[in-house]
Amino acid sequence: MRESLAGRHRYLRQNDCFLDYVIDHFPVRLVALDTVVAGAHGGEVCATREAWLARTLDEGAGKPTLLLMHHPPFRTGVSAMDPMMCRTAPSFARLIAHHPEIERIATGHFHRPIVVRWAGTVGFVAPSTAHQVALDLRDGEPTRFVYEPPGFALHVFEPELGMVSHVVPIGDFGPMHDFVLAPEYPGQA
Ligand SMILES: [Fe+2]
Repeated sequence: MRESLAGRHRYLRQNDCFLDYVIDHFPVRLVALDTVVAGAHGGEVCATREAWLARTLDEGAGKPTLLLMHHPPFRTGVSAMDPMMCRTAPSFARLIAHHPEIERIATGHFHRPIVVRWAGTVGFVAPSTAHQVALDLRDGEPTRFVYEPPGFALHVFEPELGMVSHVVPIGDFGPMHDFVLAPEYPGQA
């Protein structure tokens, strides 16, 4: 990734080992934490990465922050996917809870839009821009994929509003239409 993209995205060179970075010239601070374990499906925040995050959050001095991680560090209750979550030490959740300026932990990997409350913040999983993982809450079922529409998440931050997350399906759904309401529709008088 760094070899391909760091020419135009210099923040990818902030850390020689992991692909951790901070972008801090917006009203919300973007902190990306590398969760990759080479060759594995699941992710991990090792002690080195947790220490980097602790230092980085301290440097933010309470500025609103969006934390980006590929693998969710929280369970979703979907038994086919939770084994592929991000392994963390108990101290990681305590670190997150200690920083209420974290507006969200925005993740991916599970290929479905999912929202949870975790460690005092909002845990968010974006849908996949390709196939989705089938929504199956039964124990013991294998992971299956389904061609629900691809999608993405748009996180909007305004200082007075805070962060608002929109989930948007990708596809051609036709033009926009004006609402034409009958006179008897509530509020039309
Ligand atoms: Fe993934």
